[in-house]
Parts: sequence; structure tokens; C-alpha cells
Amino acid sequence: MKTSEVRQSFLNFFKSKGHSIIESSSLVPHGDPTLMFTNAGMNQFKDCFLGADKRAYSRATTSQKVMRISGKHNDFENVGVTARHHTFFEMLGNFSFGDYFKPEAIAYAWEYLTEVLKLPKERLWVTVHESDDEAEKLWTEIAKVPLERIIRLGDEDNFWSMGETGPCGPCTEIHYYLGDIKIPQTREAFLKGDGAYLEIWNLVFMQYNRSEGKLSPLPKPSVDTGMGLERIAAVMQGKLSNYDCDAIRVIIAKAEEISGLKYDGISYEPKDLMSDRQYARDVAMRVLADHARAMTFIVSDGVLPSSDGRGYILRRVIRRAIRHGRVLECKEPILAKLCQAVIDTMSGAYPELKERQDTVLRVVDAEERKFHETLELGLGILQKEVAKVEKGKPFSGKTAFALHDTYGFPLDLTEDALKPYKLKVDSAEFDQEMEKQRSRGREDRKSQALVYQALSFKGEKTNFLGYQHLQAESKLTQIINAEDADGNIGLVFEATPFYAESGGQVGDRGSILIAGNTFEVLDTQKVQNGYFVHQCKLVNGEISKNLVGQTAILLVEEERRRRIRSHHSATHIVHYALR
Ligand code: SER
Repeated sequence: MKTSEVRQSFLNFFKSKGHSIIESSSLVPHGDPTLMFTNAGMNQFKDCFLGADKRAYSRATTSQKVMRISGKHNDFENVGVTARHHTFFEMLGNFSFGDYFKPEAIAYAWEYLTEVLKLPKERLWVTVHESDDEAEKLWTEIAKVPLERIIRLGDEDNFWSMGETGPCGPCTEIHYYLGDIKIPQTREAFLKGDGAYLEIWNLVFMQYNRSEGKLSPLPKPSVDTGMGLERIAAVMQGKLSNYDCDAIRVIIAKAEEISGLKYDGISYEPKDLMSDRQYARDVAMRVLADHARAMTFIVSDGVLPSSDGRGYILRRVIRRAIRHGRVLECKEPILAKLCQAVIDTMSGAYPELKERQDTVLRVVDAEERKFHETLELGLGILQKEVAKVEKGKPFSGKTAFALHDTYGFPLDLTEDALKPYKLKVDSAEFDQEMEKQRSRGREDRKSQALVYQALSFKGEKTNFLGYQHLQAESKLTQIINAEDADGNIGLVFEATPFYAESGGQVGDRGSILIAGNTFEVLDTQKVQNGYFVHQCKLVNGEISKNLVGQTAILLVEEERRRRIRSHHSATHIVHYALR
């Protein structure tokens, strides 16, 4: 069965059980500030569980786009090295909002797996919460699962919550034995967690809302189930790794085609990334396949790379993918080609990918081209520093910070790039550097603000002439003696053509002539809501109190202002267009 067929059969099955098929919600959660990205199928129904939202249906089924890359559910670090972890995947789910509860949830899941997908019962195992006698009984009665195949586990395994807050409850999980059927399956082997027993479906019995650390009962017991589509597709296709299901393998195939290198992908045993080139390539291809899917879906849901929030997570995904592209020795940008493959594979189920194809490809390509050169430079620095690290010591946090600050290396990228050398970043030192930079910024802003706050400005506020004129005459009203370290002073006039920094446009520069003295204007700042301070350096003549009251000629550096204006307008236009 192809991945797309599994998706459709799941939705059809639950439709036949009275569920409404609901579209996947965006990866950007709507109106939920507790989440960076949609991390479970139930997110879009959070308010239905809480009883705060009434819909026309009380049973729903979805195939939901999910990102597990931040907050409580974060798999970023494991991507590429394991057979299961993804940042982006699809989650199949069926939901009851105060409609059915445990018996039906268990009956439906069993029927779907054993009668629709026809998975052999003798490979299925079940876990329940250690306190859930009822679920255990239902599994034995409804599904006839033998008691010895039902395992009771604690909160860590069998209590699901969305995050620090939100609906939650005990759960029961269905596992599938992937090993040789001739080898006896045992509880001991199951509990050892050696990878032969694969969790395929999680049925959560939503009973509580967690808020400020306390659990309170939901208005009505509900059901939320989640099954990773790629996982179950891999099982159906007889593959041991999610990365081998058709939907992901096709992206890996694209990476092979672009790089001219072969994917082996047999082993998930951790190996030496430095000496085992094939293993390093396999990891890189898996990371690229996963990240290409993630970036395609994130950008198509309206997020752009930026320096904070969701945009920064996207940037981290893109930059990490670019670094793995280097492992494949690709000289040309590759991400847009991989994203194109994702769009071609997935747009049947997610038509928005085709609609936003141009945006996705352009954004990804621009980000890759921009980062390419800095990546080279930064990796050069990283390698030099690696050579200096003493045995048993971590990689310098200062260098990791410099890579972050100057070369745009997110910390996780540096950490990832250090894996082949088996080195870790001195993260305490990195944090210290980060804190130092933050407090320098705070100090700079504070000291400038303090200087200005301490001053008393007299008379009328400055009349700004600069929209019509770039030259003007005006009387000097005040000299600010708050000299900075370079001996500069501030001049305030009745009127000025100099634009003072605001709204993201930098202050003007130029010159001022007054009574035979010449000043160079280095910057213009607006202070206390309307006094324009021209920060000046004396070029010739002398500074004297007598200048106050005299008329000066103020000349804005025209070419500079013209260029700033173009840049500023262009930024506004780009911003508008992007929005
Ligand atoms: N919310 C649960 C999970 O994500 C079941 O859907 O695993």
C-alpha cells in the first residue's frame, strides 16, 4: 500500500464510522500562543475537548501536518540518525468530543489494523496506563488480546499531554513486532526497547485539562488518537525504517540524483561519521529528506526565515540542511530541487503546496544562496578551532558564539557540525558570551537614554523641514555638552532638514556651518518626543556658548539620504508584498 493509499483508507474507515473528515490545520497554530508549531492532530480541536467550542460534529478524523521541533515534543536532534524521528510528519487521527470513549476507541483501532490493513494479530502488543484496569479489560474482551501481551506502564510512557497546559489523559498504545516471527516475542524483549517493537498508534483518553500544573476534569471524557502515517506506511511496505516508505524514499532518491552518490541506508547503528563516509552520507540524505519536507510545508504555511520565533526555527532547519548538502559535496544549491520533489509528491493531498510553489522555491533558494559563502567561511574557522581543542576538553563556547554572531551559525548547526569530531560545545561559555552581548546592548541603550533623559531641553520642539528641503537656515537653540568618548557634541536648532532616526530609517548625516565654524553631522536622533539632536564633530573653528542664538546653515548629505530613502521605501514595499 502506498503512503497516500494508507492515508485515504484511514480517513475512509473513520468516515464509515460516522466521523467527519476535517482538513489538516496549518502548521502555524491559529490563536494558540502556547505552541510554536502544530505538534499533534488534536491541536485544532483543543477547544472542542475543553468544551469551549461547539462544532456541527462530535466525531472527526484527520491527517494532520505536524512539526516536532520545539517545546515538549522536539525530535530535531534525532533526525537522520534514527529510523523513526522526523521534524515534519503526518499524523492520522480519530477524535471524539464527548461522544464515544474507551470501548469504541479500542474497537475501531483494532478493526482498522487487523481487518482493513490486515496486520497479523500475532505481531501486535498493547500498553496501558498502570492504573487503567478498564482499558486492560477492554483489550482482552473486545480485541481478545492475551493478557501477557498487555503491558502496564507509568506516566512517562502512558500519559499524554500536549504541553505544559492543555487537554491530556492516560493513553494506550499499540505496538507492532518487526522482528523474525520465528523468534519468540517476550515481555522482557519488549521492555528492553531494542527497536523490534514499534509503537504505531497512540489512543489518548482525554479526561483532564492541565493548567498551572493542576489537572481538572474535562466537561466530557473524549478521545484523541494519533498514528504516524510514515510509520504505518513503512510497516505496510515491509520496511524497517520510516525513511524507506515511498513518500520519503522518493526525496532521498532526488538527493542521490542531485549528488550522484548512492544511499545505502541499511544501518542505523551509530557509526563514525568521520571515517565511515557512506554512513555520513546516509545520515545527510535522511536529514535532507526530512528537512526539505519540513521547510516546504513551513514556508507554504506562511512562515519566512527570520532571526526569531518560528522564522528562526525555519532558518535553523534550512541552514542545517545546507550543511548536510556539503556532506554530499554538492557545489550548487540543492534545496529548491529537493523541495520541488516534495511538492510533486505531496501536493495531491496538500494542494496548497502547488499554489505556493513559487514562494517556497524562491524563499528556500534565496536563503541557501545567501548562507552558502558564510557557511564556507564559518566551517573553515570551526575546523581550525577543532584542531586546537585539547583532549577531553569541549569546543570553545567563545568561538561557537562568534560563529553564531558573525557567520549566522545557529548553535545547533555548530553542534551538528562537531558530531564527526565527537566534540561538544562549551555551552556555559556560549551562554556567557550571549549574555555579555545582551547586556552590552542593554548598557548602550541605557547609557544613551540616560544621557538624554538627564538633559533638560528648553523652548519649542524642533520643526522638521526635511520632507521638502535638504538645506535650510535655522537658529541654534542649544548645545549639548554631554560629550561622548570621541569629544562629539549635540546641537539643537529651531528647525532642521535632518531626518532623525525613527521607524527603522537611520538618521541623516551632513554638515552645519555657523559663524565661520564647520561641524560634521555624524547622526541625528530625536529626543524627548521632538528635539532633534545633531551629533556633531567640530571640523574647524571652535565651540562656544556664543553660538547659541546664531543662524546656521544646515546641509543634509543628499546622495546618502536619497539612497536611504530608496532602501526604506523598498523595505516597506517588500514587507507589504510579503504580508
Ligand atoms: N495526541 C496524541 C499524540 O500526539 C495522540 O494523537 O500522540
